[in-house]
Amino acid sequence: MSTIADTPLATGFPSLAREGVVYLDSAATSQTHQRSLDAMSDYYEHHRGTVHRSVYPLAAEATELFEGARDRIAEWLNWPARATIFTKNATEAINLVAYAWGRANVGPGDTIVVSEMEHHSNFVPWHLLCAEAGATFTCIPVDDECMLDLDALDAALATGTVKMVAVGHVSNAAGTINPVADIVARAHAAGALACIDGTQAVPQMPVDLQEIDADFYIWTGHKAYGPTGVGILHGRPEVLEAMPPFLGGGHMIASVSVEEIRFGTLPAKFEAGTLQVAEGIGLGAAVDFLAELGMENVRAHEQEMCAYALERLQEIPGIEIMGPKDAGRRGALVAFTLDGIHPHDVAEILGSRGVCVRAGHHCAQPLMKRFAVAATTRASFAVHSTRADVDALVDAIHEVRRIFE
Ligand SMILES: Cc1ncc(COP(=O)(O)O)c(C=O)c1O
Repeated sequence: MSTIADTPLATGFPSLAREGVVYLDSAATSQTHQRSLDAMSDYYEHHRGTVHRSVYPLAAEATELFEGARDRIAEWLNWPARATIFTKNATEAINLVAYAWGRANVGPGDTIVVSEMEHHSNFVPWHLLCAEAGATFTCIPVDDECMLDLDALDAALATGTVKMVAVGHVSNAAGTINPVADIVARAHAAGALACIDGTQAVPQMPVDLQEIDADFYIWTGHKAYGPTGVGILHGRPEVLEAMPPFLGGGHMIASVSVEEIRFGTLPAKFEAGTLQVAEGIGLGAAVDFLAELGMENVRAHEQEMCAYALERLQEIPGIEIMGPKDAGRRGALVAFTLDGIHPHDVAEILGSRGVCVRAGHHCAQPLMKRFAVAATTRASFAVHSTRADVDALVDAIHEVRRIFE
């Protein structure tokens, strides 16, 4: 049995010291690790300067810390640092691609493909792009276990009109792990690019971006034990170089005159304005923490938590679990409905007992429509989750049933 949750490293979450809290909502936002908090305090207390602009020691130290974080983040996922771009969050990173790449490359007659299980962040920007560019928006369906219909993807690709396939690595609403390297290969074989939303995957499992080979891969810091306010876009360098910038302003330029603006090199070209220095440094420290735990260990632990939850939840009468049946094919979350009880009531009663879960459509309304539900209740697991947390969840759901009987 995995013991990762008992290690001092995995218990370093000050916010979880609060008595009675069973935190099962890391898919929404993870707790921030002490190392990340310390790294940000260290920056603010000892190295507070702006990055890339000034030569005095405070600013030089800040630049070193910030660029060091970028280097470690990029190396951890096996991608070039200069093609690893800091954004505000995953949503901004996808919008960056949809605006900067999309407005330059997509027009009437072209098709953008997404899937029915996408988070709205990987759905709405592409929908907006298609509406503006006069392109076709196609949504690949999922089966009853919420697995992607790859034949439908192939059929869409066979039209020869697809410019971009945008899918999630792990579904935040059903937990499905998508075969992203395979999807990227299919897209490339048809002459399309691929944009993978790795928001739920990066904190949970080993990710090697060279192996996946996507043109864009996106994730967010606050779900990876880091701070809010920072996301990451990894782009294929030659694609990023050929794209126009997203936001204009300071830092992203090489030179500016009335006649002409020349853009900076990567990554500065896509990082206009004063950057999220503390948050970038904090995310670097969160990544150090995950690297030290080892992503194989993280995955093994969370898969075990998920398998235990799937097993125990089956005992509850009237429960319907969304997504793949076995933990090996899903990320570390379980979303469910309880016959005759609204998910918000479930979450409220659970919350009153200290069990923190999320109820709602999880920003995945097309998927909710597919399964004819307005909402689900979702429990998600993390490096600090234990079997006792799962037991508390199950006990609290039994209590919900008793209240509604
Ligand atoms: C799969 C997925 N993609 C994208 C996002 C958006 O992340 P952010 O709000 O940090 O931009 C989320 C957040 O819930 C998510 O779960």
